[in-house]
This record gives sequence, structure tokens and C-alpha cells, in this order.
Amino acid sequence: MGSGGREHALAWKLAQSPSCAKLFASPGNPGMAQDAECVALDASDHAAVIAFCQSNAVDLVVIGPEAPLVDGLADSLRAQNIATFGPSQAAAQLEGSKGFTKDLCLRAGIPTAGYVRTNSLDEAQEALLGFVAPYVLKADGLAAGKGVVIAETREEAEAALLDMFGGKFGEAGAEVVIEEFMQGEEASFFALTDGTAILPFGSAQDHKRVGDGDTGPNTGGMGAYSPAPVLTPELEAQVLREIIEPTVATMRAEGTPYSGVLYAGLMLTEAGPKLIEYNCRFGDPECQVLMMRLESDLAEIMLACAEGRLTEVGAHFGTQTALTVVLAANGYPEAPDKGGSIDLGGAEAGGAKVFHAGTKLADGALIANGGRVLNVTATGPNVTAAQEAAYRAVDAINFPTGFCRRDIGQKEVAREAERAK
Ligand code: AMP
Ligand code: GLY
Repeated sequence: MGSGGREHALAWKLAQSPSCAKLFASPGNPGMAQDAECVALDASDHAAVIAFCQSNAVDLVVIGPEAPLVDGLADSLRAQNIATFGPSQAAAQLEGSKGFTKDLCLRAGIPTAGYVRTNSLDEAQEALLGFVAPYVLKADGLAAGKGVVIAETREEAEAALLDMFGGKFGEAGAEVVIEEFMQGEEASFFALTDGTAILPFGSAQDHKRVGDGDTGPNTGGMGAYSPAPVLTPELEAQVLREIIEPTVATMRAEGTPYSGVLYAGLMLTEAGPKLIEYNCRFGDPECQVLMMRLESDLAEIMLACAEGRLTEVGAHFGTQTALTVVLAANGYPEAPDKGGSIDLGGAEAGGAKVFHAGTKLADGALIANGGRVLNVTATGPNVTAAQEAAYRAVDAINFPTGFCRRDIGQKEVAREAERAK
């Protein structure tokens, strides 16, 4: 279920799974149509999704984005005994409510930034006095990645609170979480869980700002690479022990076991890794680089996860680094141009893979149909080589109304150059 670059990568990998005989994508996109039969189901119409699964003997449903998970689609499917990869509505609160996750961290002793939950402008202004700049303000609910404000001054923070309680993010902003600012490098860590067992599923680093050198507004992500060497095996073990394991155990103990992928956004601080936030689905575009590296049968792994048999499977990732560059439509993230023509040329000739994130076919021609349009993904023995291969593929594409960052992976490329000296 889904139509973005993350879902294209999942569909591409599921189609390669020896255990997957037939794959549908709903609604899918022109890229996914090469790997799956696209069907137009409305994810919010649970009865329609169930009816389709029953009449097509679907063995496993994989839900890509957070909105249908938070909306309880996994619960509706499971109630009909349709195996589903993705958490229940109650467990998806780990992404759906920032306050819920912060309270869980407090109960379970999980390292994270100190915080206060506030339910009115007055309460928030009062609570702000207990923090120092920079101020971190978060709309509690889903806000399409736009609900977080880092304010450098009290005035900016006050203005952001006015916006949030004034309805800028709708219902998502009816509660606001104010947090301590954490300093460090960010990394993403993924783990599958069936509610009890945990299967580490790789690391990645995203690039959230729209411009080179991490400038300009936040986006859904402009590029990523995996693995993230900053997350050393020692740090990864610490994240599992201090963050992932207590989360899974607490969710189970409290009667809302979490099943699916847990995506931990981490800040690697001087005091150790701390949780920034959880997402209840794969990262987009982090998923694209994970899928490039995965060598195991994804359908088998996801089915085992959905059926509570995660201990029966393993996940094998290749040793190569994968890197993806997002080609976005001019104007993204504020007002992306739609309809620009795209010619993929020989982008995939050298082994790169172009995942479709926001495209559609118009009279047989591929055109842009979203903010993030393509995810140009390549592999190499290290970040430097993967970056070169990805930008070679980017340069083979003709998309005159699009743009990309030119520095995806640059921090790690610099570290690799330093080490090579
Ligand atoms: P989120 O949408 O929750 O991922 O937050 C967006 C970005 O805000 C994160 O990727 C971080 O860069 C930043 N951020 C969120 N919370 C904090 C925090 N407590 N301290 C520092 N930066 C933060
Ligand atoms: N790339 C960030 C996210 O998927 O939330």
C-alpha cells in the first residue's frame, strides 16, 4: 500500500523475493507498475481493501506510509486474519503522538531529550520559561514532517507556539511538546519486531534540508546513504539495549505490542545515543538504500514478522554502501512545479536504480507529479564510490524542471578522504 519512492523500493524487492508469486501495488506509481500490478484502492476504505485481499487470496499486506497505520488499517486487516506488515493503531502512536512516545521513554528509562507536554498556549508559554534557546517545539500529531520548529530566540518560539495552537497543523497541533535541544550528529536505525523478537535491519543517514550544506527549509528527505558508519557496531548495540529493547518490551507489557518496522531517529550526543523520535514505517528515502543492500527474501521476512515468527528468519545485507539522491520538482518543498517532463535516459545503465517517488504517465510520457519525484540510487564499496555512481546516474537524466542536492553523503566522503591520508 502506497505510491512513493519508499513503496517502489519495497515493491521492487518484494518482486525479487522467491517466496512472492504475485504482487499488487495500491495505488502504486509508474515505476511500481514494472514490478507489480497496480490497483486503485482507497486506503481509508478498509472494507474495500479487505474485499480486494479476500477475492485475490492475498497472503500478506505491506503498509508503506504512516497515515493508514495511524488510521488502523492493520487492525482491520488482522481482524479478518489477513497477515499484515505494520503496527496496530495503538502501537502506531509511537509515531502518531510525540507526547505518547516521550511518556513511554520516561516510563521505560529510554534516553531522550527532556520535555513538557502542553495543551494550551498559556500552558506552553509558561513551560517555555523552563527551557533555554534553541527551543524545540513539536506539534504532537502527524504533520507530514513539518510539525517541528527549532527556534533560536524566545520571540521565534512564541510565534511558533501561536501558529501551532492557532491551527497551522490542524488537530496535530492541539497539543505541543517542548523539548530540550540535543547536540550531535543524527542517524537512523531500523529494527523489525513481531512484538517480542527483534531483528536489526540496518542504519542510514538522511539529509533533511533542501539545500547543499544543510541549508534552507526541512523536507521529507533529499538523499540518504546506508550503512551509516557513525553508528558503529558498539553504538548500535547500545541503541538496541537502551532504546529498542525497552520500547518493544514496554509496548508488549502494556498490552499494545508493536509489530512491523521501528524506525528510530537518533541523536548521537556526547552522553551517548538518544532518541529524537520514532516512526512506525520505513524512512523515505532511507528505505531505498536499505533495499539496495538487502540480499534476503523480503517477503519471507515480512510474513514471518507479521505472523509472530521473526526468530525464524534472518536479514542479510551486502557489504556495499548504497546512496540515493532525490530529484525534486522546482519549488519543493513549498510549491513544487507539477507536470515537468522526465527522460530517464541511460540512468540505470551502470547498475543504478531509479525509484519513482512522484511521477505519472500522461499520454505515455513520464511527468513529475509530486515534490519528490525520483530517487536515483547506486552502490559502491564506500560512500565516495556510491556517491560518484549515483551522481553519474543523476546526470544521465533529463528533468529540466527538477533539482537535487549535490552533496549527499558529503560529510562521510570527507571522513573517508581524511582516513585515506
Ligand atoms: P522530526 O520531524 O521529529 O524528525 O524532527 C525534525 C528534525 O528536528 C530532526 O531531524 C532533528 O534535526 C531536529 N530535532 C528534533 N528534535 C530535536 C531535539 N530535541 N534536539 C535537537 N534537534 C532536534
Ligand atoms: N526521511 C525521513 C522520514 O522518512 O521520516
